[in-house]
Amino acid sequence: MEIGRDCTEQLSSPYYVSVPPSCDLILALDLPDRNAVTPMLRKLHGSLSWVKIGLQMFTAYGPDYVKAVADEGFKVFLDLKLHDIPNTVAKAVGSLSALPIDMLTIHTSGGSEMMMRANQAKESTKPDLLLLGVTVLTSMDKVGLREIGVSASSSDQVTRLGKLAARSGLKGLVCSPLEVANLRRELSADIQLITPGIRPAGQSGADDQKRVMTPREAAQAGSTHIVVGRPILQSPDPAEAARAILAELSS
Ligand code: C5P
Repeated sequence: MEIGRDCTEQLSSPYYVSVPPSCDLILALDLPDRNAVTPMLRKLHGSLSWVKIGLQMFTAYGPDYVKAVADEGFKVFLDLKLHDIPNTVAKAVGSLSALPIDMLTIHTSGGSEMMMRANQAKESTKPDLLLLGVTVLTSMDKVGLREIGVSASSSDQVTRLGKLAARSGLKGLVCSPLEVANLRRELSADIQLITPGIRPAGQSGADDQKRVMTPREAAQAGSTHIVVGRPILQSPDPAEAARAILAELSS
């Protein structure tokens, strides 16, 4: 299906660990409208295999949009950050399992029962789906956490929620690249860590990202996947930009 036809944290961490076996690239497919998607994906065929679809495009265009992106030959990370009572999240995971998706996010702050029920739903409907826990949103600072009754530091809260997610059966987390080294020390090596907030070395602007790492720094810290949007989408040659990032990751 042709997409759009029918419609309508720079860091120098002292805590680098050994480079994980591989770190892959996920494109954040944050484009202004659906008509821009197919031309972009066609430019990127063969250069990368993962795209992230967020809440904005999913709520605008729905499951058909996800199918259309997958039909273009890309693996889909559906970033919906589900958060509700355990039964509702489990049912939503069951429904979303019918889609051609490979990763899906839920909020770890929904608690262990919510995560366990979500994981059970995934296991019984789509065992290969990687269910990812979102810990503390990077838009939350100390004041924001206090406002909702969390007195721990953001970093301690991320670690706490990350460990809770792992105990609840989740095999991956989305986090800031600055949190990866801490989480790597606390979690088993099979936990996938997916990090946005990446800017290639030598790139002048970080856009609205406040604290960033380069692809190689994120991989060295222990990320298994990095999420990159604007540095690829806004490049004059998106395929070359993606290839350069992958080359940096494998170098
Ligand atoms: O364009 P850029 O590379 O900054 O895009 C990063 C992507 O990762 C966006 O889709 C953004 O919403 C997402 N993201 C993020 N920081 C988080 C969680 C998600 O930048 N903490």
